Amino acid sequence: MLEVWELEKRFYLHRLGREVVAFQGVSFRLKAGEFLLLEGPNGAGKSSLLKVLYRTYRPTAGAIWLQTGQGPLDLAQAGEREVLWARKHWVGYARQFLDPRPRTPALEVAAEPLLWAGLPREEALARARELLLELGLREELLEAFPTAFSGGERQKVNLARIFLRPLPLLLLDEPTASLDPGARKAVRARLWALKEQGVAMVGVFHHPEDVAGLVDRSLRLEVRDVAFRG
Ligand SMILES: Nc1ncnc2c1ncn2[C@@H]1O[C@H](COP(=O)(O)OP(=O)(O)OP(=O)(O)O)[C@@H](O)[C@H]1O
Ligand SMILES: [Mg+2]
Repeated sequence: MLEVWELEKRFYLHRLGREVVAFQGVSFRLKAGEFLLLEGPNGAGKSSLLKVLYRTYRPTAGAIWLQTGQGPLDLAQAGEREVLWARKHWVGYARQFLDPRPRTPALEVAAEPLLWAGLPREEALARARELLLELGLREELLEAFPTAFSGGERQKVNLARIFLRPLPLLLLDEPTASLDPGARKAVRARLWALKEQGVAMVGVFHHPEDVAGLVDRSLRLEVRDVAFRG
């Protein structure tokens, strides 16, 4: 599904006139249905690695070979159109924080990926409703705007989007960090179901017990204090 080779991301800090290494020399392989847990202290580069895999950032070295229905694609070198295509069909990403569009009700935000996939509106909204309630979102919030939601409520909307239309590779950045125990339990059940469906996952989890038994391998990142003079 995914083969990552000697991946590296450095940031150039203009204000300080130097570079920081977010992570370096990262290599791993992931098959369908496998779960890779990213570990390491704050600032070790876990979120940066996920953002590079999603191509929010372009890596400064290395390759990201993604197996697609149309052959392998190196996301490290892919152009803008290929990246958008990969995000639409192959790679999903649960951010740490949802940044919702203003004036769009929660139900609509959650149902969006199903609407894009061409599902009839009625059915898409019904499925989004069911999942949001399963994750413990209060019913009176379904029609409210997520811009006014708490951190945990936003995270539920975010996860509903991902779970409603699972893509073959899923990137998870602390998706349960601000959830209550009931919601964490629902997320655990969903992650197990995704794994059984063959979804490959790379994730950072604040509560390791949320992924106990799910993890096939883990990768530990360390804080890099190597600085290069610019
Ligand atoms: N956009 C950016 N510009 C400059 N430096 C950045 C940027 N994003 C991350 N960094 C730096 O890269 C390093 C790794 O950050 P990252 O957010 O990936 O860590 P993390 O392992 O996810 O930490 P946490 O556990 O706190 O979420 C940090 O030193 C951070 O300051
Ligand atoms: Mg992080």
